[in-house]
Amino acid sequence: MNYLKYINPGIDSIKPYEPGKSVEDVTKKYNLDKIIKLASNENSLGPSPEVIDVINNFKNIHLYPDGDGRKLKSKISEIEELSDENIILGNGSNEILEIISQAFLSPRCECIFSKHAFVVYKLASKVRGSKFHEVEANSWGHDLEKFVEKINQKTRMIFIANPNNPTGTYLSHNSIINFLKKVPSEIIVVIDLAYYEYVIADDYIKPLEILQNFQNVLITKSFSKIHALSALRIGYGMGNKKLIEIMNRVRQPFNVNAIAQEAAIAALSDTDYLQKSIDNNTIEREFICECLDKMSVEYIPSQGNFICINVKTNGTEIFESLMQKGVIVRPIELYDMPTFIRVTIGKRSENEFFIEKLKECL
Ligand SMILES: Cc1ncc(COP(=O)(O)O)c(C=O)c1O
Repeated sequence: MNYLKYINPGIDSIKPYEPGKSVEDVTKKYNLDKIIKLASNENSLGPSPEVIDVINNFKNIHLYPDGDGRKLKSKISEIEELSDENIILGNGSNEILEIISQAFLSPRCECIFSKHAFVVYKLASKVRGSKFHEVEANSWGHDLEKFVEKINQKTRMIFIANPNNPTGTYLSHNSIINFLKKVPSEIIVVIDLAYYEYVIADDYIKPLEILQNFQNVLITKSFSKIHALSALRIGYGMGNKKLIEIMNRVRQPFNVNAIAQEAAIAALSDTDYLQKSIDNNTIEREFICECLDKMSVEYIPSQGNFICINVKTNGTEIFESLMQKGVIVRPIELYDMPTFIRVTIGKRSENEFFIEKLKECL
């Protein structure tokens, strides 16, 4: 296999992304009556009934989707108070991260992101052969002061996850504004808001204000989390018209399927259901934290739909033990957090089951 020596720089050191274990995987491996999956930060309540209706009634599978996603972009622009030209749709927000990286990263440039930040930033940089700086975290969160210290002539892109996965830490609006004022305008700052809707902190980011003031910012959002459309793969990016136009040059013609577009419109329209999901998460996040406090188990305060728990022993072993008892969580050794597990916040019955099994494991 002589071609192996010609693999693009950066790719040889990459391990393929490993998703959370599925219920099917675990059912096959262990003979269990009950298995719950709290591993991939999905919404346990599932999508709005209106979404299910739209999917069940969808007819035009033989036709290509609207490659421009006009109806959906118009709905998003109404909600985000932007113009359609400020929006790009992606096959998951992950694809938006890929598109921006494809358009601007190369082996000649550098990226900055935080240690313990969402792994795709590192993958996207490595694939393009870009050098990257993983900035030391501050109380598990992004240390933006240290980000500024890493900026140099070669810096092309900075990734910020707010809240961050897996730590659940968030950055305030003012801290982001202060940071952006210090970043040269030729550097693109990607602000990943995949868990935006779950945040209840009063001082959280106001995306519109950021976009109105900084032309070098790309904001991403996902339909996989609160909107519960993970299987359909859909997300979007928001930014300056010119930036979006450049990104559209590298986007595949029909990157977002028609069912996903229709489902996303229905999800955005059912605001009562959206609120129900937010409320469930807020109440259940507090419930899990109270249980952990009672058990004197340490965790990182989270604004997302997941919590990082410090089991103070090998997290992967606890993950295995929980799996044998029917609870799938996520070990996060990959994020250099070997004594932690990450659990997604589920419904009350799931959370109680998780806590019961965690007690047995610790
Ligand atoms: C911080 C963050 N950003 C982006 C994504 C990608 O989500 P999706 O491609 O499903 O929209 C994830 C997925 O877990 C995430 O945690």
